Amino acid sequence: MKVRACRETMVSFRCPKYPAIFVFLAVFVFLLALFNMDVLEHKGRSSYPLPKHHLQHRFCSFQPLSPEDALEERLLLDSIAWPETPSLSASLSLEQTTHPAHSRFTILPEKGGQQWHVGDQLEVMIKMYDFHGRPKKSGGDFLLARLHNRALGAGVAGKVLDHLNGSYSAVFSLLWEGSAKVEVTLVHPSEAVTVLQRLTREQPDRIFFKSAFRSGSVSETTTCNVCLRPTQQPLCNFTDLTTGEPWFCYKPKNLSCDTRISNYNGGFNGHLKANEEKLFKSGNNMKVSIQASGSANVTIFPKNKDQPEVKSNIVQPGPAGYYYKGVWQSISGPTVRQFNTPSVINQCLKGKVVHLYGDSTVRQWFEYLNKALPDLKQFDLHSSVRVGPFIALNYANNILVTYQFHGPPVRSISVPAIELHYIANELDRLVGGANTVVVFGIWAHFSTFPTELYIRRLQNIRRAVVRLLDRAPDTLILIRTANPKAMPLREALTNSDWCSLQRDKVLRAMFKGLNVHLLDVWEMVLAHHLPHDLHPPPPIIKNIIDVILSYICPQKGS
Ligand SMILES: *[C@@H]1O[C@H](CO)[C@@H](O)[C@H](O)[C@H]1NC(C)=O
Ligand SMILES: *[C@@H]1O[C@H](CO)[C@@H](O)[C@H](O)[C@H]1NC(C)=O
Ligand SMILES: *[C@@H]1O[C@H](CO)[C@@H](O)[C@H](O)[C@H]1NC(C)=O
Ligand SMILES: *[C@@H]1O[C@H](CO)[C@@H](O)[C@H](O)[C@H]1NC(C)=O
Repeated sequence: MKVRACRETMVSFRCPKYPAIFVFLAVFVFLLALFNMDVLEHKGRSSYPLPKHHLQHRFCSFQPLSPEDALEERLLLDSIAWPETPSLSASLSLEQTTHPAHSRFTILPEKGGQQWHVGDQLEVMIKMYDFHGRPKKSGGDFLLARLHNRALGAGVAGKVLDHLNGSYSAVFSLLWEGSAKVEVTLVHPSEAVTVLQRLTREQPDRIFFKSAFRSGSVSETTTCNVCLRPTQQPLCNFTDLTTGEPWFCYKPKNLSCDTRISNYNGGFNGHLKANEEKLFKSGNNMKVSIQASGSANVTIFPKNKDQPEVKSNIVQPGPAGYYYKGVWQSISGPTVRQFNTPSVINQCLKGKVVHLYGDSTVRQWFEYLNKALPDLKQFDLHSSVRVGPFIALNYANNILVTYQFHGPPVRSISVPAIELHYIANELDRLVGGANTVVVFGIWAHFSTFPTELYIRRLQNIRRAVVRLLDRAPDTLILIRTANPKAMPLREALTNSDWCSLQRDKVLRAMFKGLNVHLLDVWEMVLAHHLPHDLHPPPPIIKNIIDVILSYICPQKGS
């Protein structure tokens, strides 16, 4: 077996089986040793291991976790560790950074002559060069890859593997007959990843929030966040008592903390060093296609029955699904049915309660159902159209659909502070059961914060999911992944696909082994021909809703 230097640059990529297990065991044993040392070192002072190398966020410290959670946090952070990436410096000029226009990919084998069949895997070698056309010698560039055929409405996400020497592989499953075109996109040069990591370390408060406080005729506004820079000003501690989720505001001068009435996005105050902005130029070195040397196309012939299947040890597991004729075909989930009319959707949802929780990318699904189903009547709660909460009912069919935003951080217009609810606490209030469907998605508002915040949020949600499944094992729980999006400069600094990818890996690991299902919106956006969008456009939403409804109402006999 060929053992490769192996690094994850796309979700759920696995190194060849056995070496991965050995590496994992070695890492595990090492961490266990480290962990025990920590407990010993701090005996008498604290029974918790003190986080060492990960928590380097200057003023952002988090409460200690239980030993199990702390160990998991550390393993997760290690599992998503990105390769070392260079920084711009006196000895590294912009011209020496990755330049997609000079970089090339090649379909393997390079000499050609290969005949491809459905079921085969296609491998592409990608070589990165700098602005001078000199080969890059280190890894860490963030690449995305897809294989598609526009005329057939076909597309599938590829897995990218970093060889850590300036070259990368992309691997695709061949799933349809006809031609297929490879597309490789540089999302960020490695040097930009260095900047994103530094921003999160040094400026985790670059997106900040505000709250209004009011009592009688006195009102004040102060700044709030997950972590606040220490000043002379005292703090209001709004840490959630049930989950321990942190939230703070500077205390108003003349008002008490319990007079807080609202929460809203205060703005962005991040800053880059000289020249760093040039690492984030759309169309130049951010979200830019890389050209093929030679053909970018292959022709795929029908599955060859006589030939043994080409089994690759590279892509494990394969893609979650692919598009054919614009319709998502699930590989990892149930057969996707088409729910094209209100009556088919109503039939499926009859007697169900569907609870949607999360950010605006989940709100889209409430909006879709509300629009697609004339008999589903939204009750006007006079709530914010962005943040909700929403509730909609179809009395005749006994269908209830609700939507609620996740707890802070919430980048939004001003909403009542009392409308901020943590998903874990909401799940703890559900009876659950065979008629209950829970769907949540939480990612886009976390990109500016240390990954620890996200890990802890998911640990809290997972605990609530486990409790819910214990008391009502028939509850259907669907979890939305993140997705790639459009990225002008400011978006790159506040919600880059790189941050989404890193957090998405955590999400996938966190819920592994539980009786829950992932809605792989990451692949559904990546594989589609429409441009990446934080809020995926209607044709993608339609496909996602069909996947959700196929989980709720699987095809008979499948
Ligand atoms: C490459 O594939 C596209 C469709 O995906 C097709 O339109 C084009 O003609 C193909 N080019 C070659 C050279 O086969
Ligand atoms: C980089 O590593 C890969 C995998 O080991 C190898 O195939 C490739 O030739 C190397 N490239 C260079 C430029 O050394
Ligand atoms: C905030 O409140 C929580 C919960 O009561 C407490 O555990 C934590 O230590 C407090 N943090 C600060 C900085 O006061
Ligand atoms: C607080 O009250 C004092 C006295 O009424 C007033 O002078 C001051 O401006 C107030 N401060 C704020 C921030 O509202």
